[in-house]
Amino acid sequence: MGKAILNRMLNVPKISSPTFDRFTVSVSSDATIHRLTKEFSASKSTVDFLRNENIRAAEAADAVILCFPLNQFRKVLSQDGRAGAVRDKLVISILAGVSRQEMEEALSHSYSGTKNEREEYNIIRVMPSLGVRAEESTSLMVEEAPPLPQHMRELAESIFRPIGRIHMTKPHLYEPLTVLSAVSHALMSVSIDAIIDSCVTEGIPREDALAVAASCWRGYATLLT
Ligand SMILES: NC(=O)c1ccc[n+]([C@@H]2O[C@H](COP(=O)([O-])OP(=O)(O)OC[C@H]3O[C@@H](n4cnc5c(N)ncnc54)[C@H](OP(=O)(O)O)[C@@H]3O)[C@@H](O)[C@H]2O)c1
Repeated sequence: MGKAILNRMLNVPKISSPTFDRFTVSVSSDATIHRLTKEFSASKSTVDFLRNENIRAAEAADAVILCFPLNQFRKVLSQDGRAGAVRDKLVISILAGVSRQEMEEALSHSYSGTKNEREEYNIIRVMPSLGVRAEESTSLMVEEAPPLPQHMRELAESIFRPIGRIHMTKPHLYEPLTVLSAVSHALMSVSIDAIIDSCVTEGIPREDALAVAASCWRGYATLLT
């Protein structure tokens, strides 16, 4: 998902998103660095890839996107220095099933100041959908409470607008809508596979079946909204 977002952001015309001119990506393995460096070689002057240097990546940024496997959540957020690295910055979490409170708690373990000085974090939860690669994501964005400063919310929107639609949601509807999004994709892919397989069994070439079925689904979805 991180790769799809980066890919899109690199291709946003400068005029519509003047905010971002450098990207730093921290991953966990050399193999991924090698693969991504090759894939993004055309953008090597704009993107830096780091291995396990999450703090350094965050320190250099105005906005930090949390996008890694859920089992890494406490490890990444509780790392010494993490709280300082995201202080006063926009933190966007696309981690499914992790509440804002859980993130604040994890960050507080990495905070070295006194409790009274504990920072408030500017965390917003956003859940892009599978359509990112086609710029057709429906990204759920939480109206966090307390709300983020206006300029931070606008910054978050400027990141996700180029990959599709943004659907603002109250905090209590975020998880159910995330499930709805995942289930919709799952049911659509099972049904479309079944339709196409049965067409192929009846002698219709797979590419014809796929083209017509996909177009019908797209048209029907447009009628719904
Ligand atoms: N896939 C989706 O459609 C989707 C949609 C919405 C939200 N999400 C959320 O996005 C997150 C990532 O999912 P994904 O499908 O993109 O997973 P993924 O393809 O497995 O990518 C995870 C990335 O995180 C890196 N990583 C692992 N441990 C790390 C650590 N300790 N520090 C820094 N980077 C680390 C991995 O690096 P290496 O490759 O080097 O291990 C990899 O590049 C999940 O929390 C998921 O809930 C996914």
